[in-house]
Amino acid sequence: MIKIGKHTFKTKVFQSPMADCTDIAFRLIARELGLAFAFTEMISAEALVRWNKGTLPLLRKVPKDKPLGAQLVGHSPVSMGKAAAMIEALGFEVLDLNCGCPVRKVTGPGAGSALLQNPELAQEIFRNVMAHIKKIPVTVKMRAGFTDPSGKEALHLARIAEKEGLSAVTVHGRTRAQGYTGKADWKVIRLVKKALKIPVFGNGDIFTPEDAQRMLETTGCDGVAIGRGALGNPWIYAGIEALLSGHSPKIPSFEEKKRVALEHLRLEVKYAGEKMGALHSRRIAAWYFKGCPNVAQFREKINRASTFKEMTVLMEDFNAGETGQTK
Ligand SMILES: Cc1cc2nc3c(=O)[nH]c(=O)nc-3n(C[C@H](O)[C@H](O)[C@H](O)COP(=O)(O)O)c2cc1C
Repeated sequence: MIKIGKHTFKTKVFQSPMADCTDIAFRLIARELGLAFAFTEMISAEALVRWNKGTLPLLRKVPKDKPLGAQLVGHSPVSMGKAAAMIEALGFEVLDLNCGCPVRKVTGPGAGSALLQNPELAQEIFRNVMAHIKKIPVTVKMRAGFTDPSGKEALHLARIAEKEGLSAVTVHGRTRAQGYTGKADWKVIRLVKKALKIPVFGNGDIFTPEDAQRMLETTGCDGVAIGRGALGNPWIYAGIEALLSGHSPKIPSFEEKKRVALEHLRLEVKYAGEKMGALHSRRIAAWYFKGCPNVAQFREKINRASTFKEMTVLMEDFNAGETGQTK
């Protein structure tokens, strides 16, 4: 059991926020297949306090999409504080603060992973956010460091977060300099876990239930956050739960993959609209059938399709090749 503020979770398996991926459609599919706690994509505090039109869809949620955390990214303690109050007023169950984003547009002004190198500013942000929040727990997600792979920066920031009253920390075992290359260093997760009393989530390179079990065992972390490993594989959450309780994870059949992929596309179009939904769906369809023998041709066709109807037909007609195996 993990306690985050007033919430107690039986699960150790959380979803990691991913911009342009963990939208409503993704979350509803994941929940249908066993995810217990989800996050929005990251939301810019600056954009939110200005009620920027492009930001509002990121905040949309539906009753079934609960409990749901929202993630804020920003470098201004004032905007982060104001945006935090808005997130709470909008009814999100948890607020997460982004100290991990590696993108230059974000780190340039000093937000995301740049805060690992500026712990004084991070502390000011944490403090102002906590001052603006009445009830909901605040958590932080960070990388191992900016360029320093030792984990010292993450450790320092995590200690500040605990001191300022945050309720949990997620550590992605890569530096900003690594981007998404190389391997996540799980030793950094262990380092932070050993130093903190609040729950620590491990993140980075969990692609199978066995990976999750290994991370929990080797780092001692309280829970795991799954990012890319769930793209096209929303069965991973239940698979991890199964393995952790001594059962064999179920492997979805090709037909089940098709059914879920089609439902994901349908929800994407429902919530993002036909034009945007169809555009997103090209990528989503490719996630589900990654590794299939005939996937290259399928992707070519799907990339040319521009309506949900065309995509549905292509997906229904798609077969995995002689073996029917997808991996
Ligand atoms: C496309 C993409 C978008 C991401 N967006 C976010 C984000 O909005 N907020 C965040 O904290 N991390 C974001 N991440 C990082 C992931 O949450 C996660 O920390 C990272 O991918 C490592 O975990 P994984 O190996 O399980 O994917 C993103 C990663 C990817 C690949």
